[in-house]
Amino acid sequence: MDRKNFTSVILLAGGSGTRMGLNAPKQFQHLCGKALALYSFELFSHLEEVSEIVVVCDPSYRTLFASPHKSVQFALPGKRRQDSVYHGLLAASPEAMLICIHDSARPFLEKEAVQALLKKAFDQGAAALAAPAINTIKQADASQRVKQTLPREELWEMQTPQAIRKDLLLKAYAHAQANDIEATDDLSLVEAMGAPTVLVKSSSRNFKITTPFDWAIAEALCAASN
Ligand code: C5P
Repeated sequence: MDRKNFTSVILLAGGSGTRMGLNAPKQFQHLCGKALALYSFELFSHLEEVSEIVVVCDPSYRTLFASPHKSVQFALPGKRRQDSVYHGLLAASPEAMLICIHDSARPFLEKEAVQALLKKAFDQGAAALAAPAINTIKQADASQRVKQTLPREELWEMQTPQAIRKDLLLKAYAHAQANDIEATDDLSLVEAMGAPTVLVKSSSRNFKITTPFDWAIAEALCAASN
């Protein structure tokens, strides 16, 4: 892998998973006999376009993540998702040109989607997988009074991976820290500097497991593909 294409994946597995109502984090629960976080870890581990994987997780889970194909590094989780990404960014190789951030709670990621995303991010600087909105989305105030109905044909649900050139992501973090910007996705930090970002159309199959309902769907999908 030459330096021009060196891609570091930051695999986020540092959340507490409290919305699932479990004692252990959801990303380490077993789905069809395998820890959730290992689905995407193994996909990245087999992808030629990936140079290294930085896993952000509690140190007690590190032994789960071993790859015969890739260099695997570790970083400690932060308080917010954004802090965990930053810790991963600091642990990435100095060789890295592109940083590809993925939520380990999305087990149904597909190889072709990652390849299309990485190509777009190399060309454009910052790109993410996203699915066209299928529901009508309204903006409302704290008392649920509707402020406006947003035009559905322009709305996209953000997914991961999100891939950003390392130099741009470092600048975006410096800007966010200086201006107290909080974001739940990575492209938002780049957008906050006024820099362009683009979307790569993805399938809703790449959903994030957040609730027990999502887990039931994941089990059904997993059982159907075995
Ligand atoms: O909380 P949410 O589901 O949005 O988290 C998305 C991903 O980020 C999950 O894979 C979770 O493990 C990770 N995360 C993290 N550090 C945090 C919060 C979330 O690595 N502080």
